[in-house]
Amino acid sequence: MFARRSFNLFQKRAFSASANQASKVTVLGAGGGIGQPLSLLMKLNPRVTQLALYDIRGGPGVAADLSHINTNSVVTGYNPDEQGLSDALKDAEIVLIPAGVPRKPGMTRDDLFNTNASIVRDLAKAAAKASPNANILVISNPVNSTVPIVSEVFKAAGVYNPKRLFGVTTLDVVRASRFISQVQKTDPSDEKVPVVGGHSGVTIVPLLSQSNHSSIAGEARDALVNRIQFGGDEVVKAKDGAGSATLSMAMAGARFAESLLRAAQGEKGIIEPTFVDSPLFKDQGVNFFASRVELGPNGVEKIHEVGQINEYEQKLLDACLVDLKKNIQKGVDFVKANP
Ligand code: NAI
Repeated sequence: MFARRSFNLFQKRAFSASANQASKVTVLGAGGGIGQPLSLLMKLNPRVTQLALYDIRGGPGVAADLSHINTNSVVTGYNPDEQGLSDALKDAEIVLIPAGVPRKPGMTRDDLFNTNASIVRDLAKAAAKASPNANILVISNPVNSTVPIVSEVFKAAGVYNPKRLFGVTTLDVVRASRFISQVQKTDPSDEKVPVVGGHSGVTIVPLLSQSNHSSIAGEARDALVNRIQFGGDEVVKAKDGAGSATLSMAMAGARFAESLLRAAQGEKGIIEPTFVDSPLFKDQGVNFFASRVELGPNGVEKIHEVGQINEYEQKLLDACLVDLKKNIQKGVDFVKANP
């Protein structure tokens, strides 16, 4: 079961965060298109007790603005220097990283590598020092490469815990459930489409055979799969140079963070698809893979298998693994060459 069913950011919960459930959430890149609405959603989440906002531009301004919202959490903005970054990270339970540049029309996520790799590496270095035990949630693209970058940096610092590193692929399942509901004329909140693999183009593998509409075939299926894989391009094109998905991404990132907080506070059976250090395809040299992951107080509790898939999906998966392996290696090589 996906965690989405009980996800409602504005719902008053049966219990609210108490002193022994103190949860500090840090957003790195909080001034950006994703960072601002994501920080807003975190401010509205009653499980969050402290919200730390860091950006190379505008962190304190966003923090001052959000701090007037009448929820209990304390919001602090930090200046873009080493001390500010370290203070923002200290004692964080969750570190969300949407820092970096987004796509412009015609660009693939991989085109962002040159800029975002070093941004993510440097933020990971700071996190390895100041918050080595936090859950690190990487949003910055290309996720297929930036997650391995964080893992290499944490390994080099001797603090790598694979159970606490997540590539946020939630938007892919959010889109999948919305797009399938539009085709089937159903309520998207009833639609659960597992999406496995990675987070770019053909590495995004929707498993329609495991959805409520397993009989979708032919052109309808091809069109739907293509829309799920390349849905991000629709937004990039429509924004016409002003960036990529920010609002839907903020919702997806907030949903994932909320799931982790619920799991940390003892709720069982919380499952989210996410890109993690995974045993599923290690024998084929693919060390990270997104599949349904059960979350717990220690982060990753259980990584679910891909499960039964049909011949068509097997082809998608084969294509995914080829690209994914290269994307992961690119991240690993980057840190080796630029430690
Ligand atoms: P944006 O350009 O609006 O915001 C990025 C923010 O990061 C800016 O405020 C910038 O000042 C800040 N930043 C840059 N370098 C930094 C550093 N060293 N430390 C702290 N902050 C820094 O971009 P947007 O639209 O918010 O996208 C951010 C990233 O998220 C992009 O890489 C984009 O491709 C990715 N993304 C990921 C998705 C996913 O599903 N995982 C979906 C959509 C976007």
